[in-house]
Amino acid sequence: MKPISTTIALAGILVLAGVRVSRGSQAAAPAASPAGVTRAAFGKLADGTAVESFTLRNAHGIEVRAITYGAIIVSLRVPDRAGKFGDIVLGNDDLAGYVDKPAYFGAVVGRYGNRIAKGRFTLDGKTYTLATNNGPNHLHGGVRGFDKVVWKADPPAAGATSVTFRYTSADGEEGYPGKLSARVTYTLTDKNELTFEYSATTDKATPINLTQHSYFNLGTPGSDILGHELTLEADRYTPVDATLIPTGQLAPVSGTPFDFRKPTAIGARIAQDDEQLKRGGGYDHNFVLTAAGDGLRRAGRLADPGTGRTMEILTTEPGIQFYSGNFLDGTIKGKGGVVYKYRSGLCLETQHFPDSPNQPSFPSTILRPGKEYHSKTTLVFGVSR
Ligand code: BGC
Repeated sequence: MKPISTTIALAGILVLAGVRVSRGSQAAAPAASPAGVTRAAFGKLADGTAVESFTLRNAHGIEVRAITYGAIIVSLRVPDRAGKFGDIVLGNDDLAGYVDKPAYFGAVVGRYGNRIAKGRFTLDGKTYTLATNNGPNHLHGGVRGFDKVVWKADPPAAGATSVTFRYTSADGEEGYPGKLSARVTYTLTDKNELTFEYSATTDKATPINLTQHSYFNLGTPGSDILGHELTLEADRYTPVDATLIPTGQLAPVSGTPFDFRKPTAIGARIAQDDEQLKRGGGYDHNFVLTAAGDGLRRAGRLADPGTGRTMEILTTEPGIQFYSGNFLDGTIKGKGGVVYKYRSGLCLETQHFPDSPNQPSFPSTILRPGKEYHSKTTLVFGVSR
C-alpha cells in the first residue's frame, strides 16, 4: 500500500494532467462519470495566457463547469422531471466566444456588480471616478471588470467537490481604491446544492459587491423564459430612474407587477403599462429581500412548468437583481449554435443594492482594511412532478 502522502501527490499529478479525480466515497459510481472534480485546458487568450476549466460533478450526475476566465460558469447540467439532463445556463462553446461577445454570461461581476451613478462616488471625503460604460453610468466593475480577467485556481482540495478562484485587483484598477484580494468558491453537494462563496480583503476602503451573473433557462435553450414561474421573498423593491439608477425609495411591491411573493409566470405582467417596467425594458430591478438576520435566507424560487426543473435561491445578501434578459436581441449565437433571442435567459443576481456608494440609506458596501468581506448564495436544484 502506498503511503497517504504519495497517494495525495499522485492524485495531484493526475489532476494537473487533466484526469478526473473522484472522491473517495464514490466507489459505487459508474467508472465513466464518477463524482469529483476534473481539471482541463479551456483555451488560450490572444496573449497566450492559458485558461483552465474545472468540472464539478455530484453523485446524482449534476455537473457544473467553471473556467478561470471571469470565474465563468460555462455549463450547468441538471435533470428534468423525466431524468433527462440539460444545460440550464447561457454561454458560448469556446473561450473566443466569451472574449468576443461579452454579455457577462455566467461570470462573477465585480469589483461592483450593478450600477454606480455617473461612475462617481465619494468615500472618506475623496471623490473617485470610474468608467461610464453603460450610458451615463458605471456597470459591473467597468471596462475590464472581474468578468474579463483570468483568476488563479487553487488545486482541487481532496474530498471536496469544489473549486476556488482568486483574483487580486490592483489599487486604482478601473478607478477603485485599494488593492483588493478576492476569492470565490463554487461547491456542489450531493444534496443538489450549488454554493457561491465570496470573500475579500483590501488595503484601502473600497466599495465591493460581487455577484454571479449566470443567465438561466430551465426549459429549452433558445426559447423565452416568460413561462417560468418566479417567487421572490421581497415585500419591496428599489424603483429606478430612466438610466436604471435607484431613486432611493424602497417601494412596496403590493398591487404592482413586481409582486412575486406568490409563484407567478414572468410573462404574466411584463407587458403591463407600468412606468418601472418601461424603464427597465421589462424586469431589471433590485428586490429588497424580506427575511432579516445573518446567515442564508430564502430569496426565491424559479420553476419551469414545462420541464419540471426548479431552482431555490438562498443568500446572505440583502437584495436580488431580477433581470429578464431584455437586452438579448438575437445577435448572439451561443452554445451549440443556439440563437439567444429576446428574453431567452434571466438573471437572479444576489447582491447589495445598486448605487449603494451614493445612497447613504442603503446597506453599506464599503469594505475597510482589517475587515473581511463575505457573501454566500446557494442554489438548490430539484424537479416538480
Ligand atoms: C443588469 C442589466 C444589464 C445586464 C448585462 C444586469 O445585471 O441589470 O441592466 O444589461 O446585467 O448583462
